[in-house]
Amino acid sequence: MLIMAGSSCRVLGVKVARELDTRLGDIDSKRFPDGELYVRIGEEVSGQDVALLQSMYLSPNDFLIEYLLAADALRDLGARSILGIIPYFAYARQDRRFKPGEAISCRTVADLLRLVGTSEIYTVDAHLHRIRGLSEIFKIPTRELTVVPLLSTYIRENFRLERPIVVGPDEESEQWARVTAEILGCDYDVFEKRRLGPREVEVTPRRSNVSGRDIVVIDDIISTGGTIVETLGVLKKLGVQKVVVACVHPLLVEQALARIYEAGACAVVGTDTVVGPASVVSVAPVIADALRTK
Ligand code: R5P
Repeated sequence: MLIMAGSSCRVLGVKVARELDTRLGDIDSKRFPDGELYVRIGEEVSGQDVALLQSMYLSPNDFLIEYLLAADALRDLGARSILGIIPYFAYARQDRRFKPGEAISCRTVADLLRLVGTSEIYTVDAHLHRIRGLSEIFKIPTRELTVVPLLSTYIRENFRLERPIVVGPDEESEQWARVTAEILGCDYDVFEKRRLGPREVEVTPRRSNVSGRDIVVIDDIISTGGTIVETLGVLKKLGVQKVVVACVHPLLVEQALARIYEAGACAVVGTDTVVGPASVVSVAPVIADALRTK
C-alpha cells in the first residue's frame, strides 16, 4: 500500500510509513496568492492501493478541499483504491438538524469524501454522540480507531499520581474515562455538562469523593477549553490535588492552553491527530496496526 499525506499530517504520514517499513509518497500542495489550493501527485499511482492521510483541524475547510483535490487526482490517475485516513474528522458534531433549516454538515462532508473516489474511511476517536458509528453517515465502509489506550499508557508511565481518579467532563466522555481508568487501575466519574453557548458551559459533579486525590480529566476534543476550565474550577472547589488534563484531539483554539494551565492543570497531554504544543502521543502505531490488519 502506498502511504500519502496531505499538508495537515505530513509528519504523521512519515511516522506511519516508517512503522510499516515503507516511504511516504510524494504530494505537493501549495496555496496561490488568491487563496486557491494547488495539489500535484508526484508518484506513479496507477493500479496502486493508496492510503491518504489528512486531518481536518484549525483550517478544516482548506484541509478538506486539499483532500478532495488529492483523492480526485489519485482516482483520475488510476489508483485502484483510496483509503481516506482522517485522524481528526471535523464537522462530526453537526450530525443532525438541531434547528429548522440547518445543514447536516457531517453528512455533506461524508458524501464529498465518497464522491471523489474514497473507497473506505478510517477515523480516530470521532466525535459520535448521537449516532452509533460512522457507518450511519457514510455510504462507504468505515473503521473507527482509538488512541485512548496509548494516551492513557503515556499518562501511567509519565506521571506519579496519588490515589488517582479519572474524570470525564460530560456523559459522552464516559467511553474514554472508562478506558483510562482501566489502564490506570482506578475508578472514574463522569460529570454532567450543560452547554450555555459556544464558549460557555456548566458542569456538575455526580460524586464528590475526589477530595485530596490526583485527577486525570479526559475528553475527546479540547477546543476553546471552556469545558475543561469549568471542570477544573469545580474540581478545585472539591479539594483535589494534582490534575492532568488529557484529550485525543487538542485543537486548543484561541488561548485555550494558557487558560487551562491558569485554571490549575499541571499538564495538558494530547495526540498528533491535531498537531500542536500538547501533541505528545503519536497515533501512528494505531494507524499502522490498522493498515497491517486490513
Ligand atoms: C463535546 O461534547 C466535546 O466532547 C468536547 O467536550 C468539546 O468539544 C470541548 O469544547 P470546548 O473546549 O470548546 O469546551
